[in-house]
Amino acid sequence: MSIRKILVTGANGQLGWELAQAAPLFPEFEFVFLDRTILDLSKPESFETIINMIAPNAIINTAAYTAVDKAEIEKELAYTVNTFAVQELARISKKLAIPFITYSTDYVFNGNATSPYLTDMPVDPVNYYGTTKADGEQMAMEVNEQAIIIRTSWVFSAHGNNFVKTMLRLMKERASLSIVGDQKGRPTYAKDLALATINILQSLNAGQIVKGIYHYANAGETTWFGFAEKIKEIEGLNCELKSINTIEFPTPAKRPAYSVLDTKKLESDFSFTIPNWEHALIECIKQINKI
Ligand SMILES: NC(=O)c1ccc[n+]([C@@H]2O[C@H](COP(=O)([O-])OP(=O)(O)OC[C@H]3O[C@@H](n4cnc5c(N)ncnc54)[C@H](OP(=O)(O)O)[C@@H]3O)[C@@H](O)[C@H]2O)c1
Repeated sequence: MSIRKILVTGANGQLGWELAQAAPLFPEFEFVFLDRTILDLSKPESFETIINMIAPNAIINTAAYTAVDKAEIEKELAYTVNTFAVQELARISKKLAIPFITYSTDYVFNGNATSPYLTDMPVDPVNYYGTTKADGEQMAMEVNEQAIIIRTSWVFSAHGNNFVKTMLRLMKERASLSIVGDQKGRPTYAKDLALATINILQSLNAGQIVKGIYHYANAGETTWFGFAEKIKEIEGLNCELKSINTIEFPTPAKRPAYSVLDTKKLESDFSFTIPNWEHALIECIKQINKI
């Protein structure tokens, strides 16, 4: 069955919003965007009725419990949304024989590596949010061997809450800022991830077999400090930035020292080049300044 009608959860999140912005460019697809008022991921028992009413040909789950520090406290809710809900969406997708795409995180790894994480490396979540996502991956694949899981990292967009928007605000308010300089990763523009997701849908429609775990993050790597410096440079701000160590910025949830994802599998399977994070950042900041 070819994919035409696509149900997307998390309509108001960064990725959900970017998918909605991109949707008009792909008239071959009819996207149905649902926010939590229609499909609440904390209520997996309600999914089947709603999904049957919509009758999609594919499900994309962008919704997630993403409050990493709060997840250490709100464990039950985080687990329901990121694990049981993902399992249930995967199960229903299998029952309907339709593709299921969901997203996971670099935090499924412990951050002790010194070279990029491959998709098949063993997981060892760095914090509770990472545990909920790792279990969600596992349970989705157990109930639906065709499930597609895209791990990503350091997501930013013109919409929603993210590091770029926080930095732009703080750098305009303050004379100096201290930013963690000893954690390394790959920033990801949600718009690029949205386009990559649509590319996967097109590949599925072209008959390509797609399943299992992929990594998507913009090309290149940096630290949070390096990321902030680039934001400052692009926007032409004067705020003084100081690089500090993780130990000087304690957070309830541990963060990985190194969470660079290797994206070669996705690039070779879908023959596309992932844009560099710095170029993506310039585009995103232009977009932010337009809003
Ligand atoms: N953001 C990152 O840096 C990052 C890094 C690695 C992986 N990821 C993963 O990438 C995917 C997309 O993330 P994102 O950055 O787009 O996240 P986001 O901007 O935080 O958006 C998450 C969305 O999920 C929705 N949501 C939360 N709880 C819900 C519930 N109970 N029922 C229905 N919707 C619910 C939120 O709804 P409201 O708008 O109503 O709150 C929000 O719209 C997620 O799987 C995330 O875990 C993100």
